[in-house]
Amino acid sequence: MSFRKKLSSFLMLQKMQYLSDQQGIIRRYMREKEGWDLHLENSKRFILESSKSKIKGKVLVLGSGWLLDCPIDELSRDYKEVILADINHPKQIIKKTKHLANVQFIKDDLTGGLIEFIYRNIKPGKKYLLNSFITEIKSFSYAIPDDIDFVISLNILSQLSIIISDYLKTMSLFSQNELNEISAVINQSHTISLPKNKTCLICDFEEELFDEDDKLIGVNPLIFSNLPLGNFSEKWKWKFDSSMTYRDEIKTFFNVSATDL
Ligand SMILES: C[S@@+](CC[C@H](N)C(=O)[O-])C[C@H]1O[C@@H](n2cnc3c(N)ncnc32)[C@H](O)[C@@H]1O
Repeated sequence: MSFRKKLSSFLMLQKMQYLSDQQGIIRRYMREKEGWDLHLENSKRFILESSKSKIKGKVLVLGSGWLLDCPIDELSRDYKEVILADINHPKQIIKKTKHLANVQFIKDDLTGGLIEFIYRNIKPGKKYLLNSFITEIKSFSYAIPDDIDFVISLNILSQLSIIISDYLKTMSLFSQNELNEISAVINQSHTISLPKNKTCLICDFEEELFDEDDKLIGVNPLIFSNLPLGNFSEKWKWKFDSSMTYRDEIKTFFNVSATDL
């Protein structure tokens, strides 16, 4: 990639908050380690359970990020090739996995190019008709290569839509209901691209909000399309933000679903 292209991609990801969001994940993990560890351990354990029935050729991890929730050593030991896919790979992670010869990184937009489409085409002040916008974005999807034996969609499904929806929100072009419809298209495009009997899908699907006295004050969906049924599944809670920095005076916990598809 030329220097110009690299710079333009960096500016796009910065403007759309992809880079700050990824930095935010590691900072929050350090603050909230106690509440996060159970979720991270559950994710790793479920992946290894799902992995048992898969051919040990190529494994593709979607949304690998900081690998907090990924049993990378075991995947590297068990599979011929481990491919880590994310819109950005932290330098520290590339360095940390250097000793694992069968691990490779790919920098891809896992919405299939919707990030750039929105960045280049959607401008504040213009009028957009929801139906034609929805028709347009339905054509974006990420193609998972046929030769992948195991796909792990790793706590990324809600992120695929939330970051785009938050970016669109800053331009006040769509109502909240319209943003939810847009999110549903993005979420569904991801889940239908996941190959049957070859996938482990882990995602936060709902948030619970608690006040300082731990009284439940609200529940919001994080995924706007139906989650696929699989061969086996589990649910657990992720104590995402107990220190009330994500929302003022509110604790935010996620309900997480893990499915062997
Ligand atoms: C909540 S994190 C998942 C946790 C991650 N496994 C970790 O340990 O950091 C979501 C990850 O998805 C990535 N991401 C979000 N939207 C993306 C997109 N459209 N394409 C590729 N990666 C994306 C982010 O960069 C981030 O690393």
